[in-house]
Amino acid sequence: MTQETNWLEKIQETATFIKEKVGGEMPKVAIILGSGLGGLVNDIDVKMAIPYGEIPNFPISTVEGHKGQLIFGNLGNKYVMAMQGRFHFYEGYSMKEATFPVRVMKAIGVKVLCVSNAAGGMNPNFRVGDVMLITDHINLFPEHPLRGKNFDELGERFPAMNEAYSHRLADMARSIAKENNIRLMEGVYVGTQGPTFETPSEYRYFYRIGGDAVGMSTVPEVIVARHADMEVFGLSVITDLGGEGIFVDVSHEEVQQAATKAAPVMAFLVKEMISRIDEV
Ligand code: HPA
Repeated sequence: MTQETNWLEKIQETATFIKEKVGGEMPKVAIILGSGLGGLVNDIDVKMAIPYGEIPNFPISTVEGHKGQLIFGNLGNKYVMAMQGRFHFYEGYSMKEATFPVRVMKAIGVKVLCVSNAAGGMNPNFRVGDVMLITDHINLFPEHPLRGKNFDELGERFPAMNEAYSHRLADMARSIAKENNIRLMEGVYVGTQGPTFETPSEYRYFYRIGGDAVGMSTVPEVIVARHADMEVFGLSVITDLGGEGIFVDVSHEEVQQAATKAAPVMAFLVKEMISRIDEV
């Protein structure tokens, strides 16, 4: 058996484990809780939480500030699945490992993926604590999550990325923000490998190539979700600034503090979004 066939079987094995453990109908909506959305867990009426360490074939999360468990429960009127803690490329996982949970989501029947992250803002209109609707991304990771043999049963060889982030869901977010007087910024997320934050020249460079915010996650997960034909919606919390002539200092602690401050807004938007996603 080749290693790659093995990988397909692992996805199925993990999906079967989850379906049997959780039982009942599987959620159609999944949320990846990055920095800034961790608190959303408190709004979920948790039916079951499975630590990553107990899930066959799952990598184990190592980064500070992330817990590492899969949560199943009700968020408002919707049954959802949430990843509390994600797998970053900078932690040393391969792209296939880092995006494995997204493959499993698809295998259990998830149709809509909501991603969140903390990001550094380059757009001069952004302030620390702003929430940015991700309208598109630029992939600057040094390895592609779809590199290698393509399995047609998972998705096509050359998937389009013209609507990586659902226009329909973005419009929904805009309406919610408008109705509730929320300052919702919009922009392009640049995904880089980290773990260093950017030099001033790198922030400037990312802005000049069309990015509005930069971070170390999300892009691989979104690529895999789109390969698997899931609909994607993403939010970033702007935790520091590094643009032309502006530089608001950044450290892991500062990122977490800014993310915590913006958390209620992020949580509100996501909750409203999810309650309005009916057609899945
Ligand atoms: N750069 C990269 N990743 C980040 C940043 C940043 O400035 N802020 C939060 N995550």
